[in-house]
Amino acid sequence: MQWTRDSWRAYPIKQHPVYPCENTLKENLERLEKLPPLVFAGEVRQLKKSLAKVAKKEAFLLQGGDCAESFENFGANNIRDMFKILLQMAIVLTFAGGCPVVKIGRIAGQFAKPRSADYEELNGVSLPSYRGDIINGFEFSEKARIADPKRMLEAYYQSATTLNLLRGFAKGGLADLREVQRWNLGFVKKSELHKQYEDLSEKISSALAFMEACGINANNTPNLREVSLYTSHEALLLPYEEALTRVDSLSGDFYDCSAHMLWIGERTREIDGAHVHFLSGVKNPLGVKIGPSAKAQDIIRLSNKLNPNNEEGRLNIIIRMGADKIASNLPSIFKDLKKEGLDLIYSIDPMHGNTVKAGDFKTREFDKIMQEVRYFFEVAISEGVYPGGVHLEMTGQDVTECTGGASNVTMQNLQNRYETQCDPRLNADQALELAFLIADLLKRARK
Ligand code: PEP
Ligand code: CO
Repeated sequence: MQWTRDSWRAYPIKQHPVYPCENTLKENLERLEKLPPLVFAGEVRQLKKSLAKVAKKEAFLLQGGDCAESFENFGANNIRDMFKILLQMAIVLTFAGGCPVVKIGRIAGQFAKPRSADYEELNGVSLPSYRGDIINGFEFSEKARIADPKRMLEAYYQSATTLNLLRGFAKGGLADLREVQRWNLGFVKKSELHKQYEDLSEKISSALAFMEACGINANNTPNLREVSLYTSHEALLLPYEEALTRVDSLSGDFYDCSAHMLWIGERTREIDGAHVHFLSGVKNPLGVKIGPSAKAQDIIRLSNKLNPNNEEGRLNIIIRMGADKIASNLPSIFKDLKKEGLDLIYSIDPMHGNTVKAGDFKTREFDKIMQEVRYFFEVAISEGVYPGGVHLEMTGQDVTECTGGASNVTMQNLQNRYETQCDPRLNADQALELAFLIADLLKRARK
């Protein structure tokens, strides 16, 4: 079938909300269609070029952010701290890998959530599951759980103001390499981790002083004071994505202007489904999550459909199998894929395969997360594949959602600051610690 912005409507679709009133849905979508794009085709092409470098083993991808953004926790401090922690991690990885790090946030649009069950039960009451603030409310009440199309507009405006602040931070001084010490969020002052970061900052400062003496400084070299932080989210809510998909006047191509990069989740990646069909028609760089049940053939089919011209930087295969499964599943997948000569990026999401229940909370253990990352690097290196990136759920705040690491979060104190509306995130200390560990692996991978 010929692709058009709305041709996905003829395909089977999973995880799709039921809106009680067709007319209100239509009205809200018509309003969205008239609103300006959130990102521009030119920026999206720039990201694709950077990702092509990842595919060519010349760069590394760091993608991270909240599991789900929320209307309630929206504010400048959260955005600033997410920006800072991403920058801190990127600098650690850049230094170790000796290569550029492409930075993509799960931010400014990461609102819609796939759910394993359509209904949620609490104290004998069963209600429709929470599907993210762009669809319904988190509160466990009948009213909140009704899908409300007005929420799409609120998500749009929140994304626009988030992007505005991110663009300010990226170009307006906070990203200046001379500020490297100020990015430190430092919850556990004087910890080994922060000492490690301060040592790194000092090395960077001396390198900058040396370069300054040679005439290279932030005034004549914008890369020393500016960064590019791109946005991404799961393209789950297709009416919203359709409304923000626009024709680029320069190329005549369609771009989904809700974010620079979009990905397809593990639950909606069936080859003949609506989500794969929709994304096959837009030019943005794409990701697909690949869980433990996937076979190499599934990835080959997805690649043929989403990246038929085998373009470098177009498709990112995000492996998320779990620490206990990855070592047995991934080697044969890499072996089979290598024979195909596909230009893909391979990255690892060590979060979604390692979620466990701890009483009322969902949590993830730092060691399991790290173990999956380590296996990913080991298997990739031994199969001659480039481990191109990581995909993390994290926050710049001092939350207690994942256990372990050098931080002292335990199963017992999860309740202290458990703030996520969906999956457990690494707090800023855990994220930085993980970055140092990944840095060691990256250094070896790039030798
Ligand atoms: C997610 O990234 O939040 C998510 C739901 O991932 P997956 O599709 O891999 O389960
Ligand atoms: Co998640």
